[in-house]
Amino acid sequence: MFALVSFLALFSASVSAMPALSVRQNGASCTGLADGSTDSPAYNFTLAAYNTTLSNTNSTGAPLVLGWGPAGTSPAASEWAISTYAAWHSNEWPYFTLSNGALFPIPGPDENGLGAYDFTVASGAEVAFYVTEHESDPEPALIYCASADADSEYAKLAVNNDADSLSLCQATTAAWPNTVLVYEANSNNTNYDYSTCYPVQVNIVPYEA
Ligand SMILES: *[C@@H]1O[C@H](CO)[C@@H](O)[C@H](O)[C@H]1NC(C)=O
Ligand SMILES: *[C@@H]1O[C@H](CO)[C@@H](O)[C@H](O)[C@H]1NC(C)=O
Ligand SMILES: *[C@@H]1O[C@H](CO)[C@@H](O)[C@H](O)[C@H]1NC(C)=O
Ligand SMILES: *[C@@H]1O[C@H](CO)[C@@H](O)[C@H](O)[C@H]1NC(C)=O
Repeated sequence: MFALVSFLALFSASVSAMPALSVRQNGASCTGLADGSTDSPAYNFTLAAYNTTLSNTNSTGAPLVLGWGPAGTSPAASEWAISTYAAWHSNEWPYFTLSNGALFPIPGPDENGLGAYDFTVASGAEVAFYVTEHESDPEPALIYCASADADSEYAKLAVNNDADSLSLCQATTAAWPNTVLVYEANSNNTNYDYSTCYPVQVNIVPYEA
């Protein structure tokens, strides 16, 4: 178990750095996206990566899960990034909910009592979450949208009002190999190897419990 106290200090520091949440516009995370996009879909879902330049084995895409993310600035921080199941090999957070633009991975039985909370995703950063003890009143960043896509069976995950700037890249920081989802992948970010990145869209696949 990580040192919770210093970790929570880090978490609150980053939360207080976010803009005032109380004045958020309704649906701001979907601004500029197609009609029918929503920041609060009525269903829960899994995520799957669909190649936009390489070939795909099927129309759903490769399953995505939560795996270890960047090491973070504090050894106490537990940062998890959206990762491919093919690289991470296990799925402790079996599905997601999206509520008012906040994306919540839902803990499976082995993660009972924990919560995963999203935070701002800068250009070049991994799409990641803080994993900590369950909080009754978390303040995640409201930056995600289920972007309607008339050409596809599935809505697409948008980050920062953008569903078209995501890539999968081989992480360099994890203790073992992982392939992580990155927003506006950039050769300056050393948490992954930019030369391995390829562009994807992320399908939102309704989950039947
Ligand atoms: C989605 O998941 C949450 C958390 O497990 C649950 O409370 C809710 O009932 C689920 N919603 C649907 C539509 O299944
Ligand atoms: C997308 O391309 C990568 C790299 O070739 C491959 O590993 C992955 O399986 C492909 N995704 C799908 C859904 O086929
Ligand atoms: C689609 O292809 C991916 C990548 O090859 C594979 O991991 C996944 O299980 C496939 N999904 C379905 C629904 O067949
Ligand atoms: C990478 O960093 C350099 C130096 O800070 C900067 O000039 C360059 O624009 C950055 N590259 C990208 C792609 O952001």
